Amino acid sequence: MKTLIVGSGGREHALAWKLAQESEVFCAPGNPGTAEIGQNFAVPVSDHAAISELCRQIEPDLVVVGPEDPLIDGLADRLRAEGFVVFGPGAACAQLEGSKAFAKDQMLLAGVPNSRSGTFTDPGDAIKFARKLYAEGRQAVVKASGPALGKGVIVCSLLEEAEEAINSMMVERDFGDSGRTVVVEERVFGREFSLLTVCSGASRISLPVSQDHKRALDGDRGPNTGGMGTFSPVPWIHADLIAKTEQEVVDPMLRSLQAQGMDYRGMLFSGLMVEDRIPYCLEFNVRFGDPETQSVLRRIGTGFWELLRAAASGEPLVAPEWLNHAAMTVVVASGGYPGSYRKGVEIELPTQIPAGVEVFHAGTKRESGTLVTNGGRVFGVSAVGESLAEARKIAYEVANLIEFEGKFFRKDIGTA
Ligand SMILES: Nc1ncnc2c1ncn2[C@@H]1O[C@H](COP(=O)(O)OP(=O)(O)O)[C@@H](O)[C@H]1O
Ligand SMILES: [Mg+2]
Repeated sequence: MKTLIVGSGGREHALAWKLAQESEVFCAPGNPGTAEIGQNFAVPVSDHAAISELCRQIEPDLVVVGPEDPLIDGLADRLRAEGFVVFGPGAACAQLEGSKAFAKDQMLLAGVPNSRSGTFTDPGDAIKFARKLYAEGRQAVVKASGPALGKGVIVCSLLEEAEEAINSMMVERDFGDSGRTVVVEERVFGREFSLLTVCSGASRISLPVSQDHKRALDGDRGPNTGGMGTFSPVPWIHADLIAKTEQEVVDPMLRSLQAQGMDYRGMLFSGLMVEDRIPYCLEFNVRFGDPETQSVLRRIGTGFWELLRAAASGEPLVAPEWLNHAAMTVVVASGGYPGSYRKGVEIELPTQIPAGVEVFHAGTKRESGTLVTNGGRVFGVSAVGESLAEARKIAYEVANLIEFEGKFFRKDIGTA
């Protein structure tokens, strides 16, 4: 069996590592980590014609699209039309991530628990709605509808902050066209988690739950990042909360999409906040999370390739083998991230990696043979152990041994 993985980050390295256990792996474009597992092809994810040409050359049994941009831009539709088996939703379903206004409409249509909101193209109307929320003693979250690299959401304690956020998005256009339409929604107070569900029409299987740490610094201080680490399992997320989320969020959404002629074939990532035991849906993503995937895949045994293939083909799903151990991933980042940071810094990796550890490359490249940094998040060091404490100990041992100038990582992953 042959698998083509589209993308180049830590998520794609983890997918390549996992899928290489059950197939021959090819990556477009991949990274120095995936190059050690399979064959990389220097094709950018935005060049759909080149990816389609690569598919004709490789003839993969399965294509897995990692990032959201090519999905939103219709790569899955194109490859499916050409006869390939693709894990990842088509452009219509991918609007769940591409447009927060569309996602809100779909949540309302499906009856998924979500917080009260309004969608606006006029800043005056948006401000009027925000004022109403604060007058009722509520707070607002202001969201640029279009893609904004995880920076387009502003949680506002005060009305002034909400007005400033609306102004920055809709008048100043600080997020470009992504802020042309804005969703203003009521702030939910509760604990946050995400559920990754493999979907095939109305058939679905959720993967083991992980928790991420979004802030740059220990103790959840510092600016928001793409994610500084993850762990799985998560003690407070019980099986009944997962079942409730599947029944109240995932299933109604899949059925509603189907009723509109949209067959979801890929990963549905539900972003949730639990208040009064209700899992409010904050957002949907249409792909694997990064760095959630790096921990989650460590908890899956055999049958993962077949799960993705069946979903890609629209067939009923069979659960893979679940592994009972704990997994933890610590992100090793470049000094300055998520602000500005240097690239091209020489890296020295430990020669001996203990059993149970995978060092997933996220932002690296080779420059005349030398491994150098090429991004803010450079590696995800992923370890498994009998307990979370054991996984944490080994992950940090290895994170400490990775050398490059300016390296930093959070010391409290899996404890917060
Ligand atoms: N209604 C809400 N109430 C409270 N916090 C929210 C709400 N919506 C979003 N957030 C917070 O903002 C973060 C980012 O929002 P999200 O909708 O996930 O957009 P994105 O991931 O595209 O930035 C969430 O992870 C959550 O912490
Ligand atoms: Mg989010």
